[in-house]
Amino acid sequence: MATDLSNHPLDHARRVAPKAVLFDAYGTLFDVYSIAQQAETLLPGLGARLATVWRDKQIEYTRLVTTSNHGAHYRPFSELTRAALEFAIELVAPESMNSVTNGQKDQKIDVLMASYWQLQAFADSRATLAALKARGVVTGILSNGDLPMLRAAVESAGLADLLDHIISVDPIRVYKTHPDAYALGEQATGLQARDIGFVSCNSWDALAATWYGYTTLWVNRQNAPFEKLGTQPHHIGTQLSDVHFLF
Ligand code: LAC
Repeated sequence: MATDLSNHPLDHARRVAPKAVLFDAYGTLFDVYSIAQQAETLLPGLGARLATVWRDKQIEYTRLVTTSNHGAHYRPFSELTRAALEFAIELVAPESMNSVTNGQKDQKIDVLMASYWQLQAFADSRATLAALKARGVVTGILSNGDLPMLRAAVESAGLADLLDHIISVDPIRVYKTHPDAYALGEQATGLQARDIGFVSCNSWDALAATWYGYTTLWVNRQNAPFEKLGTQPHHIGTQLSDVHFLF
């Protein structure tokens, strides 16, 4: 059930309607379900588990390289995503990997990685962005993805004409949830955090963006609990069109 938390007791600051709204990419604007389907085709019976382990390991690696040795081990998101996929396949399907040659294994990895470049938008992504543009609100993506993979997904999903900014953390080599990553949204739009709405389906991302100072909407597509660290997002919805809660 969608919940408007704008009068939530934890939100002491008076919130204003945002002049810009920035979106997380994967799982928020772009539907990553096709990746699990592709994984199921390649490894029958294991697709859902593989996709979950892959995603979790991908995010874990972003944190590992951001917090270790002052970023010395940074690698772009596409590379971390590939490394996470190798890990996930070895964990979830070790037998099937033992029976294939390295070339066949690489081929499976290439096929799954290609999914990231050919994502569809969620059904409500386009209408949500169009409604924001109609209000005169600046729109953008603020993502851990590197620019080549983000641009490919934006093109593939047909959203290019509705996005003013495609902001990648790659130039500064730190991943969300580092505050420097969220600061890129202010720098790109020339606005202060309090004038920017941030929308994510990832609860950790919605939490950290709230801590950073953005006015946040967590889109809880999976009917999951929110993080238990004492801070709530400003708004909780179930679909992207709940972005109207921000106004
Ligand atoms: C992103 C990932 C975390 O787009 O979904 O930043």
